[in-house]
Amino acid sequence: MSDFLASVYPWTKALHVIAVITWMAGIFYLPRLYVYHAEEVEKGSATDLLFQKMERRLLRAIMNPAMIAVWILGLALVFTPGIVSWSEVWPWTKAAGVLGMSWFHHWLGYRRKDFLAGNNVRSGRTYRVMNEVPTVFLVLIILSVIVKF
Ligand code: HEM
Repeated sequence: MSDFLASVYPWTKALHVIAVITWMAGIFYLPRLYVYHAEEVEKGSATDLLFQKMERRLLRAIMNPAMIAVWILGLALVFTPGIVSWSEVWPWTKAAGVLGMSWFHHWLGYRRKDFLAGNNVRSGRTYRVMNEVPTVFLVLIILSVIVKF
């Protein structure tokens, strides 16, 4: 298995980065939809149903599969011989960033259910502020895996 992983390493990493870009596109777009859904949309209106449909499709058809692919390919990279040494700092700081990003993904999932149930209590301002959270995790992850401090 480790010989196979070593032989496909460049492909695994390329597919990992493609899945990361797809996941991040949704992670940064979904909170924007929540900003306008919270500020501009009347509960039960046709626009409310349209926003619910956009949010459901973005999360289920793009973000969930992309997140699963990022994890599977990322773990395949972890088990590729010679790539990760846990005596270094970067794998730990990257892991912290990735767990934070995954938590934020699930937080967005729960907020979608709030809108679905018609009981979103958070303001557009809260979603604008929360939209900055993944930026912090992204900077930590990318500096960890590329600078490898
Ligand atoms: C979900 C769990 C994840 C795991 C287990 C994981 C693990 C890894 C590993 C082991 C590498 C190879 C590093 C090397 O070749 O030296 C890698 C590469 C990379 N990862 Fe992840 N990763 C994960 C999630 C993420 C996320 C969420 C991002 C960005 C938001 C990310 C961005 C990258 C980038 C840009 C590279 C390529 C770095 C390079 O070219 O040297 N990864 N990942």
